[in-house]
Amino acid sequence: MAILKAVRGTRDLLPPETALWNHVEATARAVFARYGFGEIRTPIFEDTALFARSVGEETDIVSKEMYTWEDRARADSDGAQSLTLRPENTAGVVRAYIEHKLADTGMLQKLFYIGPQFRRERPQRGRYRQFWQIGAEVLGPAWSGADSALRDAEVLEMLSAFLNELGVKGWRLEVNSVGSSTDRPRYIAALREALEPVKHRMSADNQRRAESNPLRVLDSKALEDQDIIDGLPKIADYLDGASREHFAQVLATLDTCGVAYTVNPRLVRGLDYYTRTTFEFTVSDGSGLGTQNALLGGGRYDGLSEMLGGPKAPGIGFAIGEDRLILTLQAQAQAVAVAEKKLDAFVAPIGIGQNAAAVALAQELRRAGLSVEVGDGTFRLKKSFEAADKLARRMVILGEDEAASGILTVKDFSAGEQTKVARAELADALRK
Ligand code: HAM
Repeated sequence: MAILKAVRGTRDLLPPETALWNHVEATARAVFARYGFGEIRTPIFEDTALFARSVGEETDIVSKEMYTWEDRARADSDGAQSLTLRPENTAGVVRAYIEHKLADTGMLQKLFYIGPQFRRERPQRGRYRQFWQIGAEVLGPAWSGADSALRDAEVLEMLSAFLNELGVKGWRLEVNSVGSSTDRPRYIAALREALEPVKHRMSADNQRRAESNPLRVLDSKALEDQDIIDGLPKIADYLDGASREHFAQVLATLDTCGVAYTVNPRLVRGLDYYTRTTFEFTVSDGSGLGTQNALLGGGRYDGLSEMLGGPKAPGIGFAIGEDRLILTLQAQAQAVAVAEKKLDAFVAPIGIGQNAAAVALAQELRRAGLSVEVGDGTFRLKKSFEAADKLARRMVILGEDEAASGILTVKDFSAGEQTKVARAELADALRK
């Protein structure tokens, strides 16, 4: 019979690698808590219209990468509904913000999420069809300060603190401003005009983008088009006074906080809802991901809530590609210490008559906060030693003599020595 495998573009995450995933997520939770974020969990599937209206019909994500299906009606009264596995989480968070009337609190909302997203992309290293994002959104009514440049800088400073705390080396922050929702159409019109006489000389992909979504031409990596792209109008020349001032304040605040950045005037990002500040973090050295792969991206989206029928709620957010972050940590050898953490002890019963006592001893040690694995009384001593050496720092031998005397034999693998320890002192001895 043919063996069934995980679907192309999806993968299983197994121990010990999952320990690194948990370490990354625990670090994110700890860092985000210091900045006043709370966790939000939104459904993995949503009404298809949510993504079409926010991410944008013309984007690659909506036009070709979504997992969408007609969900059958369960009763005559319900119609079939078009549903989509979420390709990103910002739309879901803003929908929830509107649905739960979070604006009525009058407070700035700082929400983070950790979870899988789904895009039908061509799978490669660091690009999957089910991938994980750790993201956050900061939004609220304008009077909550949600549209302040302070928030943009705070989010960027938090991300730099997070990457530093994980020990990511060689990260780079690129920032840009794509202007307000009125600057953008003016700029897009200028781009279209500039592309018109030259687009026939560009790659097929960029000819198509020049028509459907000219902003996307800017972040094209097609080598043959770079000269033309360099000569296109720059968004900076189309920003109104308020957007220009906002961007200057973001950069000045980053300078004050000592967060290094590069302004990249071509950074437009692939989702339609962005206004003003956009950013990406990349790692150049040792990630093995190539320069096409941003570690994380985000930006401001001052009109998104209105696009979804909600009240005005300017916001800014980001999503970290967790798969890519893990690959980077592994490539930079930050992963080793986390993945190789061994259990505190392996309890080896000698003979099946000691199995029950071994489980009870493990229970006692676990209650004391130690991590413990139990062998089996059918194992020969040599097999117990081998298993214990792979899994744990120490092995506790529990034979008839030990059970009767309450004095246990403890083998320490790193020191290579064997000692006798009274049961009452065992937990403390294993903690050392
Ligand atoms: P995005 O740039 O589409 O933005 O995705 C953010 C990050 O998710 C990327 O930088 C990348 O690290 C990771 N990512 C995207 N696609 C894949 C994939 N197929 N496989 C592995 N990793 C991937 C957003 O999703 C926005 N919602 C971010 C945001 C939040 N903007 C404002 N708030």
